Amino acid sequence: MSRPRWIWRNGAIIPRDAATVDPDDRGYQFGDGVYEVVRIYGGRPFLWEGHRLRLIRSAGELGMRSGFADAAFSAGMAELVERENIGDGTLYIQVTRGVCLRQQVFPGDSVDLEVTAYARPMERPLADLAKGIAAWRVADIRWLRCDIKSINLLPNVLARQTACENSCAEALQHRGDILTEGAFSNAYLVRDGAVYTHPADNHILGGITRAFVLRLAAENGITVREKPSTLEELAQAEEVFVTSTTSEIMPVVCVNNEPVGNGSPGVVTRRLQTAFTAALAGTTGPNFSW
Ligand SMILES: Cc1ncc(COP(=O)(O)O)c(C=O)c1O
Repeated sequence: MSRPRWIWRNGAIIPRDAATVDPDDRGYQFGDGVYEVVRIYGGRPFLWEGHRLRLIRSAGELGMRSGFADAAFSAGMAELVERENIGDGTLYIQVTRGVCLRQQVFPGDSVDLEVTAYARPMERPLADLAKGIAAWRVADIRWLRCDIKSINLLPNVLARQTACENSCAEALQHRGDILTEGAFSNAYLVRDGAVYTHPADNHILGGITRAFVLRLAAENGITVREKPSTLEELAQAEEVFVTSTTSEIMPVVCVNNEPVGNGSPGVVTRRLQTAFTAALAGTTGPNFSW
């Protein structure tokens, strides 16, 4: 993946190599910040408004001012994506509580947030979408505010590393006996033709892709139950899939070296993938506006 040439920083686009991090930045010291990853298809943002509103919510839940995410900010993100000449790619946005001498207590309104963003090219993961991926169960050791998209990702990093060491592309995290979500995705089972996924409470991130997929399911007559599933139910699932901004609707065909169903992407997953791909056609309409 190539390095971005430009960084959007507190309202200005500057060359990537001119962007530095202050050692007193609270994001750097405490992980005191929030972020978003937005998908860009054909130069257009996918579900931008959902990401913008979640960024505002995450910042607000941590007591940060969120007025930065206004119309001028959206225009700045559009300019950044264009300047970087992105076709299919991602836009990364990070907001930290700013730069001040190290102290745990919030610094107060005299310290400005540090808002940075960059865009990078990224192709759709078409080969994996067709054949599916393997996943590995990992104990969910995260805090109890997983609904906040915080830059504190160490438990997610460790979960993903464990999955990687077991030749798997994603982790399936479980809190005790309950499947929560992936390390960077929401998780779903199919049982008796219905889709089950953990409720969007404090134990998971309310995925923007998740909300979109639940809408697609409703439009296509697929039953969804937002109910926690046990590891036993995971082991017996007809189908398993995960969703995220970068992995779309990704079939999981193997969990801890055991095939899911017949070991290939299932019918319900395929139907949702078809609906998702149809929604991307043309990259026009309200799902693709800044
Ligand atoms: C822990 C976690 N859950 C779910 C998701 C999926 O969210 P989204 O669909 O908004 O990308 C992510 C994405 O990064 C994530 O990190």
